[in-house]
Amino acid sequence: MKLFIDSAQLDELEKAYATGIVDGITTNPSLVKVALDDMRKKKRKMDIATYITEILTLAKGTPVSLEVASTDANAMIEEGQTLYTKFNPLANNVVIKIPVNSSATGKAKNLDALRAIKSLSQARIPVNATLIFTPEQALLAAKAGATYISPFAGRVDDYIRTQHGIGFEKEDYYPAEGHIAGGKHIQDNGIVSGVDLVIKCVQIIKSYGFKTQVIAASIRNAHQLREVALAGTHIATIPFALFQNLSVHAKTIDGVKKFDEDMPSEYTKLAQGKK
Ligand code: E4P
Repeated sequence: MKLFIDSAQLDELEKAYATGIVDGITTNPSLVKVALDDMRKKKRKMDIATYITEILTLAKGTPVSLEVASTDANAMIEEGQTLYTKFNPLANNVVIKIPVNSSATGKAKNLDALRAIKSLSQARIPVNATLIFTPEQALLAAKAGATYISPFAGRVDDYIRTQHGIGFEKEDYYPAEGHIAGGKHIQDNGIVSGVDLVIKCVQIIKSYGFKTQVIAASIRNAHQLREVALAGTHIATIPFALFQNLSVHAKTIDGVKKFDEDMPSEYTKLAQGKK
């Protein structure tokens, strides 16, 4: 399974890539806003083209999703082509991110996004169809030729919990099997949790042999990551804070302390190449 970093912050991405185990980056307008605000606070001046160039370069040829700014089909197609033409030659790793339905602003209609996904994919520009909340949306995006689809696991859990008045903190775990209330599963569109959404997307993609890869997105905690990994998702994209803490376990730390205390000095010298 591939692991992407869900961040647009250069320092985070640099640290993550330094491990050598990161397979790609996903950005979105909110993440870019956070990154640009942070740079402004630190009085670090960088124009947007240089900033995107930096991200693409440090990704070392691994895919980086860049979202379009407009919502109507023609504008999204044009923006996708512009971003791809301008930036892909740098490291051959640009993926154009398009919401599976872009009609929110009223400027676009329900089918605009699918038309844009199809058109860019046909032109061999890789597309990440994002903001997927139902398996049907996943099916449509795969049929339109999307290289990636991004079901938003964490936001599904947030939505279900909010609809049913269940209080939660952002990183709180929500069970893959969902919750039963009044003898019934609480759900959205028959989806009982974010992990359930990912499982169903993976099932559809794999059973029909689509080449599309599922990126389990909006991942909030290690337990959720484990469950989407077990579900056979191709990729998970995770925030840097989660990436940084994934290897932590109290008994690992205890074990390291004990080994450190017990380490024979002659062994240390040998390992360090000293006499
Ligand atoms: C990734 O492509 C998404 O933009 C991201 O995972 C959204 O995560 P969030 O729900 O934590 O904002």
